Parts: sequence; C-alpha cells; structure tokens
Amino acid sequence: MKDATPQPVLLADYQPYPFVVNEVALAFRLSPSATRVLSRILLAPNPERPGRHDLRLDGGGGLKLIRAAVNGRMLDVTPDAEGVTVAAADLPEGDFAFEAEVEINPAANTTLEGLYMSGGMYCTQCEAQGFRHITFYPDRPDVMAPFRVHVESDMPVLLSNGNPSGSGKGWAEWTDPWKKPAYLFALVAGDLVAVRDRFTTKSGRAVDLAIWVRKGDEDRCAYAMDSLKRSMKWDEDVYGREYDLDVFNIVAVDDFNMGAMENKGLNIFNSKLVLASPETATDGDFERIESVIAHEYFHNWTGNRITCRDWFQLCLKEGLTVFRDQSFTSDMRSAPVKRIDDVLTLRARQFREDMGPLAHPVRPESYIEINNFYTATVYEKGAEVIGMLKRLVGDEGYRKALDLYFDRHDGDAATIEDWLKVFEDATGRDLAQFKRWYTDAGTPRVHVSEAWSDGTYTLTFHQKTPPTPGQDKKPPRVIPIAVGLLNPNGDEVVPTTVLELTEPSQSFRFDGLASRPVPSILRGFSAPVVLERATDQAERAFLLAHDTDPFNKWEAGRALSKDVLTGMIAEGREPSRRLIEALGAVLRDESLDPAFRALCLRLPGEEDLAQALADAGRVPDPAAIHAGREALARAIGTGLSGDLSATYAALESRAPFSPDAAQAGGRALRLACLAFLNRVDGGDRAKALFDSANNMTESAGALGALIDAERGGAAVAAFHARWKDVRLVIDKWFTLQLVHGNPAGAAATARRLADHPDFDWKNPNRFRALMGALAANHAGFHDASGDAYRFYADWLIRLDPVNPQTTARMTTAFETWTRYDADRQALIRDELQRIAAAQGLSRNTGEMVGRMLAAKPA
Ligand code: PHE
Ligand code: ZN
Repeated sequence: MKDATPQPVLLADYQPYPFVVNEVALAFRLSPSATRVLSRILLAPNPERPGRHDLRLDGGGGLKLIRAAVNGRMLDVTPDAEGVTVAAADLPEGDFAFEAEVEINPAANTTLEGLYMSGGMYCTQCEAQGFRHITFYPDRPDVMAPFRVHVESDMPVLLSNGNPSGSGKGWAEWTDPWKKPAYLFALVAGDLVAVRDRFTTKSGRAVDLAIWVRKGDEDRCAYAMDSLKRSMKWDEDVYGREYDLDVFNIVAVDDFNMGAMENKGLNIFNSKLVLASPETATDGDFERIESVIAHEYFHNWTGNRITCRDWFQLCLKEGLTVFRDQSFTSDMRSAPVKRIDDVLTLRARQFREDMGPLAHPVRPESYIEINNFYTATVYEKGAEVIGMLKRLVGDEGYRKALDLYFDRHDGDAATIEDWLKVFEDATGRDLAQFKRWYTDAGTPRVHVSEAWSDGTYTLTFHQKTPPTPGQDKKPPRVIPIAVGLLNPNGDEVVPTTVLELTEPSQSFRFDGLASRPVPSILRGFSAPVVLERATDQAERAFLLAHDTDPFNKWEAGRALSKDVLTGMIAEGREPSRRLIEALGAVLRDESLDPAFRALCLRLPGEEDLAQALADAGRVPDPAAIHAGREALARAIGTGLSGDLSATYAALESRAPFSPDAAQAGGRALRLACLAFLNRVDGGDRAKALFDSANNMTESAGALGALIDAERGGAAVAAFHARWKDVRLVIDKWFTLQLVHGNPAGAAATARRLADHPDFDWKNPNRFRALMGALAANHAGFHDASGDAYRFYADWLIRLDPVNPQTTARMTTAFETWTRYDADRQALIRDELQRIAAAQGLSRNTGEMVGRMLAAKPA
C-alpha cells in the first residue's frame, strides 16, 4: 500500500505510449478466490515514438503472473509492484503478440476496483486505473483497441462490452468492435434477471435494452428503463448522436464506490441509481436516477467514442457529460428549478472546494492519485465552463462546434486544446483568454458598483480571484455576465443582455432610461463567480417580487434570507418581518410553479451559512448558526401559520403516485411548509403524515420532521421494521437519524448506530449513510467537544485499508477546517495528523490529508 514518497504525475511529462495496441483478446476462468485471466495483446511500434523501446505494462500488486510470452516464446520476467517490463532486446522489430496468464482473487478484493465480488456476483470497475488489477496492460486512456472477451463460469449470466458473439453452457463470448481504452472494460457474471425493452435508433438500428438485477428487484426498474429510452431519443434529437451497438446493458450492484460507470455497452450502476418504486424511492431519488442514467448513456459519445488523452483531461468527458445531462433534465423537467438546484450543488460543493486547501483547476496539472480528482471542480465547474462557452458563442455556434468535435475527433483520445480548437474553428472566436477557466483554480469575485445620471446608468465591475494552492497570481478571465434592468414599477426596461467582462475592471453604460433602474445581475447564474454588491433588503425583496429572470428572483430571496440569518447569528438581530412577508407572498403566488416556491421557502443550510460568514471575514460558530436558523424557521412558522397550513392542506394529493416533475413539485412545497409548521405544531402534522404516507418522499420527510420534533422513537422503530429487507431504504433510516434532531446528540447517535447489526461498514452506501450524514450535520459534526471529529477519523482509519477510494473522498469533511475557531482547528488538525500517521495509509488518503494539512489557518 504505502509508497514512501509517492511521486506526483505531471501533465507536462505527457508522452505517447511507444506502442499501439491493435487488438486485445481476453479469456476469464472465473473462480471466487482464483480467477485466471489469459490475455493476448497485438502490439506494433508507435510511429509517434521512433526508436526501440522497452515494453512496460501496468499491473498492480494483486496480480500473480503465471506465464508471459512474446510471439509464443516464453519470457523470463518478474513483475515489480506496479507492472512488468520486457526489455527492448527481447522484442521483435515490428508487430508482435504479448500473451500472459495471471491469477487474481476477486473474493478478497474489498477496494471495489478491478474485478471484485458484490452480493455473490462478479463485477468490475476499471476507471481510472482498475484494469491493471485484472491483467498486465498499458492502462492509460490514449491506448485504444477493440476487445474480444471469452468468459467461463458457472454463473448463469455472463456479460461484457460490445455485442454477444457466442455462448454455450458455462461460457459466453463478447466482441466490442469499437476501439476503447481499458478503463471502459467491464465484465459481469452473476445470477441475474433482466428487465428488457427495445429502442430503434433514428437510422433504424434495433437495440436490445436490458437492466440486470437480482431476482426480486425486477419491479423497481421501470423508471430507469424509461429514463434510458428518453435519453437515447434526446441525444439523437439535440446532439444528433445515435447509439452504435446491438445491445445496451445496465447492471445494478450494491457495492460501488461512485454513482455509476459508462463502460462501453455495459454500464454498471450503484443500485441506488437504478432501483426505485414509489414506496421505496423519494422524488429526489427518481430525479437522480433519470439524470445518472442519462449521464452514463451520454458518455457513449462524450467519453467513449471520444475519450481523454490522459487523466488531466478528465473534464473533457465529465464536464461535457454533466453539461449534457443537466440540459436533458432541464428539458424533461423545469429549466429554472434545475438551474437553481445545480447552483445550490455548485456552491455547496465546488465553491467550498475552490476556497479551501483542495482547490485545483478544472484541468489539474499534477496529481498523486487520480482517483482524488473526480471532484466537484472537474465535474460541476467543468460543466459551468461549457455553459459559459455556449453563452459566448451562442446556440448555433455551440451546435456547429459540437458537430465539428464529433466529426473531427471520433475515435480519438483528445485534449482540452482540441476541444477549444473546434470552437475557435467553428465560430472564429479566439479562446486564449477563455482557456484560463481550465487552467486557473479559484472562484472569481466580481464586485459591482453603479452610477446614475441624466438617463444613463453605468455598471462597473472589478474582478479578482483569490490565490489557491500553487497559484498566487490570477490574470483576469472572460466572464459572461447576463444583466437585465427593471424600472421601479417592476417592469423590465432592458431585457437580458450578456456583458463580457475581460479586464480587471470595466464599465458598461445603458442610455436613454427614464428613471434609475434596479439591476438584475448574473441572471441564470451566467458564470460561476461570487458577486459582491452593496445592496439593501428592500431591493432584494423587490427583486424577489418582480424579477422576470426566475433564477435571480430566487437568488434575491436567498440573499435576503442569508442577510437576515447572518444578522441574527452574528449580531443577535431579530427575524425580519420583511423577509417573512416576502416569503408569504411567494407562498401564496399560485402563478409560480410549486417546485420553485419550495426552493424559495427552503432556508440556506447551516454549512452554507458557515461559508457565508467565513466569506464575510467572520469565524462561524456552528451552534449559533444552528440556533439562528431554528429561530428564523420558528418565526416563519408562527408568522405564516395560516398560509402554511392552508397550502399544506390544499396540497394533499389523492391522485395515484407519479414521480413526474409536477407531482414532485407539489410534494416538495408541501414538505417545505411542513418544515416550518413542525416547529409550531409539536410534530402533529408530521405524525399524521407518517401514518398515512403511501410514498417514500412523504414517509422519509415525515420521519425526519418527527425526529426534529423529538417524537421520533416509535416511528424510527416502525420504519426499520417495515423496511428491514430493503437495503436502500435502510440507508435512509441511518441518514435520517443523523441529519435530524438535536445536533448535540449527533455523535452519540452515530456511535450507537455504528453498533447496529445493519451497519455493514464495508458497503460504501451504508458507510456514507452513517458517516456522510454525520458530516452533513454541520452543528453536530462541529460540536465543540470534538467527539464527532474523533469518531469520524477513527472510522476513516479503519476503512482506509479496506477501501482507500471511499476513505479518501470522505476526508473532505475536514476540508473547511481553517474557517473555524482556534480550538476546533486544533481538534481537526490533530485528527488529520492522526490519519496521516496511520500504519500503511493508502496513497489516496495520504494525498488528501497531506493537502489539507498544508493549508494555512486563516
Ligand atoms: N466515470 C463515472 C461517471 O462520471 C464516474 C466514475 C469514476 C465511476 C471512477 C467509477 C470510478 O460517470
Ligand atoms: Zn461521468
């Protein structure tokens, strides 16, 4: 495990692989603790790397080499810890075949990368560098080849990439005609059943679709299947992209480090992103399933047909594919609601990352462990950057550029330079300055001031990006700022216009106005920046009431809530009447989509408030934040009790359940009302809802509210008894008990739940359901005793040798440590140092805690 001093990999060191791989044939003889993998790889010298070269193949510690040969001649080679080298002198000139037989132990593989077992089935995870734990291979994305796979096993269902090309009793063969990098390889063998459907592409190719699950789970696949068909159609309609194999298989597995994986023709999913029924899944789960099914499907073109040259280019596939899945969801549901949700996630995860010790560019330049770079910055900011690009070149320019991208780079392992070049070639726009969005870390701060005289209104912007680790100076970026102007009656006098900020400071004039306008700036959140503008509560309330841009309408209310809350928390102010009245007006406005109203009513979370306070140069006090937010919620519950109870009652639905956006929006608004009413009715409504709910959205919502009202006891027990056999629901049972209720008890609850027989800690979903939920309880996690920190670090130390990837990701609970007071900083630093000193710490976790410890406390 432990490398004494792991060396960083640098983008600047990139060199093409000295060989090209023309074909790969693999044969698997599956057995839980002794699987044999036979490989035959046809290689040829790469003209891009003239001269003779050693053949270096990657291969991790778990591989036992049985034999290796070149052109049938046995080799006498001994692998080292990271691979095997065949000296140039032992290689013929020109083409040759490398063959190997290795033995691996999937049953002992708890890391969930490479070939492993989950719930009695074999499955694989190869991104980013898992294939090297299956056999010796040039495990890098720029080595692409067609694969043929032969599988022998007594399992009834044997799957791999591409099309089926033969099968018999105890074996199956698969052929993938499309060349691909090894990280897209997949194999599944298990006792599975298929839910089947069919899709005919626009050029008439019939595709057999199957979702493979364990017996008993078939009735929870319908939504995933429907989402898949809609995704396939959408990619044809909107991007002109058709599917390219005869089959498309999805497999649901219980043990998975991430959400899902886009392996060619054989997507593997965390079961929580496939299985859903109204009784077991919330509206949020349904929406996530729809978007992740789309995301993985869209990778077929953005990721698979065109892949990444190296892992520094990860955003090439991920940023673009997130952008595509976000657009898909906007088209399927409400575009403004989707935009608000995405910005909430961006700020909660990416802004947080960008402000702390783990900040890195969308395209990093160095890494120790690539698995630590599947981040909010690469994914979410990567998608924002594409949204800006689209805004700058227009819809038509974007479509032309994308057509050119698919045309020019199909079959390539491409770079961000290639990506930007297609935009330059298709639109004639120079993107040299725009490229800084990829190379420079940090969230720009845009300060706005305004002037008014004689019918002319001037907006002046200053941009500045704070330093991030390894990057002190930040030159100005191109920042598209969508602006609209309203007159004092609330009518729009200047419709949305995109201002392009390119200088450190810049002014824009609007002439011929009859009266001083109210500006609506950064409409649609047109750039991932922090906008700084001195304004008052009256103007925020005005925009909440009148802005024609739905994003900024919501944003005005959000900013107003934040102002009020930070005033209550830091200065002991009273809850604001103005805010309560403004929220009441939104609540009553039936012309607004219920989902949108629900978003307006949701108060900023405690973590969000801590970020806002830290940003304003204050030291956040977690207990005070919790108390302030509770006080405001109670004041709203009291101040609006009539409207809230009327809306709550009116939204009771008698229609048969549907997960569609309209019904989900109604439930979201109803639960938003309940959150306030629950603070004043002692939990009576929550109790009634818990007893009558026929869907998980309301059951889980009611259970959380009951725990908040300190009336959880019987309901918590009943919920467990009812769902004890449904893992995904028991995950929720763990989480709800940690994110609700009195935060002072969170660490104790976590300790108690960790002793529960259902706490299967090696399962990442379950581990996150408990530990991730504890970290998400801001006041509970940051309790002054440091008990939660200690407990959390103990478990990370325990998980690390079993599953370094999940451990490393979960260390990010500590990434904000420098924003707290000296006592908490000392407590967290001790825990980080304790993790860093753990025996045999993985490279994954070692890199993360090392970067966090390098942070200078504020
Ligand atoms: N490539 C996957 C996705 O975003 C994520 C993933 C990365 C899954 C690494 C597993 C391992 O769609
Ligand atoms: Zn992805």
